[in-house]
Amino acid sequence: MRFDILTIFPELINQYAQTSILGRAQDAGYIHVNAVDIREYSADKHKTVDDTPYGGGAGMVMKPQPIVDALASVSSVGNERVHRIVLSPRGRMFTQRVAEEFAEQYDRIVMVSGRYEGIDQRVIDHCVDEEVSIGGYVLAGGELPALVITEAVARLLPGVLGNSESLDQETFGKGEDGGAEYPHYTRPEEFNGWKVPDVLLSGNHAEIAKWRQEQKK
Ligand code: ADE
Repeated sequence: MRFDILTIFPELINQYAQTSILGRAQDAGYIHVNAVDIREYSADKHKTVDDTPYGGGAGMVMKPQPIVDALASVSSVGNERVHRIVLSPRGRMFTQRVAEEFAEQYDRIVMVSGRYEGIDQRVIDHCVDEEVSIGGYVLAGGELPALVITEAVARLLPGVLGNSESLDQETFGKGEDGGAEYPHYTRPEEFNGWKVPDVLLSGNHAEIAKWRQEQKK
């Protein structure tokens, strides 16, 4: 699966995407994360990507031209199933359900990360499929949301997680959006006088499974 992330901070994306699970998944060829520098597509000689808002008000707005041209540079190949999104606190809430939907339905996800006050609405209206939010709060830009989505989707793809990171015992079972994971313990059995619950040392797998189920919030 391919993730194209349009941003004015490609180094933020590349750094994270070359580390840990995403880095390994890229090296093994399961995913490709492609950071596209929106500024390189700016047609004016100062390479500006923003301008003042029509109607006045604080802050700057990202101009349509550089984003539209950057989007054109990552247009789909053949019959690839592509989904284009803009990251925005106004968008559809991203959940484990949405991560599954993306992992199953698309070969390629193109994400536009805005900065400043926002992106010219015409890009959102005419050039992408939907707006997606990662939570009910406002961040300074769409880079963290794009990485959150990339990681949540990538780890659902076959082969991306090693055996030791299996999805079997997951916090969110398939199709679940709520619920929290059960508590985890490792050696030693007693640390600072704090003990591991007896049931986990019992070797009784049925009892352990029952206990873990009960512990899920
Ligand atoms: N950009 C700024 N805040 C955001 C959020 N909560 N989700 C997605 N994109 C954002």
